[in-house]
Amino acid sequence: MRRAALVLVCLAALPATVLPATAQENVAGREIFVGACAGCHGAEGTGDGPMTELLTVPVPDLTGIAERDGGTFPWLKIVHMVDGRTGLRGHGGPMPIFGAVFTGDAVAADGPQGTPVITSQRVLDVVDYLMSIQR
Ligand code: HEC
Repeated sequence: MRRAALVLVCLAALPATVLPATAQENVAGREIFVGACAGCHGAEGTGDGPMTELLTVPVPDLTGIAERDGGTFPWLKIVHMVDGRTGLRGHGGPMPIFGAVFTGDAVAADGPQGTPVITSQRVLDVVDYLMSIQR
């Protein structure tokens, strides 16, 4: 966990120039992605960020989430993965848990099946961004 926190601090210092030049509607989600996720998942989410050299597990290509899940983006599952409710290889694994990082902006949202979900606005923004970059 301490290592993940250190990674986050490093990532926060990444310049915004790693942004892909594509125009995305979800600016907030893209900014969060660039600041907190791109170091590992790559500027375009394809799993080739500079931090991958330091990790012992492969970093998934986030543009293929829907494809790997039978064609539909599993929104609720991904919200829970990012905020940390679903452990990825258990808590303290290689994928940082963002629930504790993105605190202070809790919101209720309707999931695709109408399921009410309470999470942080930043988790919603970044997951919407991930949904927008599916191939
Ligand atoms: C320190 C590197 C690192 C950072 C930073 C990071 N991730 Fe990850 N992420 C991983 C690794 C490694 C995995 C694979 C975990 C595993 O296999 O247990 C993963 C898995 C995932 C998955 C699951 C993908 C799938 O298809 O199963 C999602 C979604 C995800 N990350 C989203 C994010 C988001 C959103 C952020 C930023 C808010 C982020 N990650 C930041 C390393 C990172």
